[in-house]
Amino acid sequence: MKYLKKTDPEIARLIKLEEKRQEETLMMIPSENYASEAVMEALGTRLTNKYSEGYSNARYYQGNKIIDQVETLCIERAKKLFNVPYVNVQPYSGSPANTAVFFALLEPGDKITGLSLPSGGHLTHGVPKVTFSGKYFNSVQYDVAKNGWIDYDQLEKFVLKEKPKLIVAGTTHYPRKLDFKRFAKIAEKVNAFLMADISHVVGMVIAGVYPDPVPHAHVVTTTTHKTLRGPRGAIILVTNKGLRRDPDMGKKINSAIIPGLQGGPHNNVTAALAVAFKEASKKSFTHYNEQIVKNAKVLANDLVKKGYDLQSGGTDTHVMVIDLRKQKILGNTAAEALEEAGIVLNRNKVPFDTNPPFYPSGIRMGTPGLTSRGMKEKEMKLIASWIDEVLKGISITKKGLNLDISKERKRSIREQIVYSTKVLKKINQEVKKLCKRFPVRRAY
Ligand SMILES: Cc1ncc(COP(=O)(O)O)c(C=O)c1O
Repeated sequence: MKYLKKTDPEIARLIKLEEKRQEETLMMIPSENYASEAVMEALGTRLTNKYSEGYSNARYYQGNKIIDQVETLCIERAKKLFNVPYVNVQPYSGSPANTAVFFALLEPGDKITGLSLPSGGHLTHGVPKVTFSGKYFNSVQYDVAKNGWIDYDQLEKFVLKEKPKLIVAGTTHYPRKLDFKRFAKIAEKVNAFLMADISHVVGMVIAGVYPDPVPHAHVVTTTTHKTLRGPRGAIILVTNKGLRRDPDMGKKINSAIIPGLQGGPHNNVTAALAVAFKEASKKSFTHYNEQIVKNAKVLANDLVKKGYDLQSGGTDTHVMVIDLRKQKILGNTAAEALEEAGIVLNRNKVPFDTNPPFYPSGIRMGTPGLTSRGMKEKEMKLIASWIDEVLKGISITKKGLNLDISKERKRSIREQIVYSTKVLKKINQEVKKLCKRFPVRRAY
């Protein structure tokens, strides 16, 4: 940061502080990860200077001969990695990628269906009223069953009744594997498009430890900064099945991105993405994703043994959600307390949660970040015991109080967790020691 320190010491200082925070805390947010130094080097290059509206060999600006090669290489690597005939690497992030697919395949007002937010879907999967996908399309959402699992017979009945034009199979906190084959069968019954959003699980799909949606879906979207460990961004894949349904599907996706939704691609991101695809094609990436699942299973089993209610009773993936209603703690209180102890995760709705998203009944956590640092089963057990200790500290002292949201809003977070400060400080010291043993890696 030679130049940054001189030009803007304030920002340089904040960047250093954030790097220190990342180094000294246990990052358990399942949608985050640590990009490699090679990915970050590509991000910080002069490719950021170039405008390249359009696609390779068809740009609206001159001077794109090199950028064309970067984008083409990135696309070719993605096509090989996912075994698909068509890829768009320009979406700025996951939300515009999903929006572009809707623009490409639907008309405003068409019916769509996706998993509801409390059940584990994403905002862009049609959450009504507050999102683009729920306002401009006629969105009807499906839920998990009472046991926290998707009931495919129930889903089929729902789809036959509602006849959506597009079905989203994708999740942000559903801890079990999706049955894309069954999704496809259901979609075929009403001639709906099937869009798989594998943002969270993409690394595991590449590694073969999670079902591959490519043979079953028409379109697949994914962010690139989660289990893929690339730069912030997203890609859209059109499958052979998609092209059989509509040979122009790829062209339609391209037009939905530009001019439909975006301007120039972020070329530095495209280059970093190409690097991430290369890293993801290594054997070590397969082992990494296998370990993510092993770690998550150990963590989930230990939490269940300690008496916590997990959505669906556990996990088959990287993610788990603890329903804290039994402990009478709100998700925000738990997340804030854990942060004080150096364990960083997020508040989360649980299925059929009646609380608002900012004061939900659960917390969500995952193992991709810890696994990137090299942690294994032994460390998961230790972390499960720390989580338990922190949560017990809150529930004993605040029993009953935290469920009242109106009171919750008036209270400062510090006030709520002040009682367990001693425990939090002690655990925080232990967390720091563990983090030192497993530094954030610079290369994969
Ligand atoms: C399944 C899924 N789709 C889409 C997105 C949106 O991605 P972004 O935050 O990059 O817009 C997310 C983000 O967490 C996600 O989990």
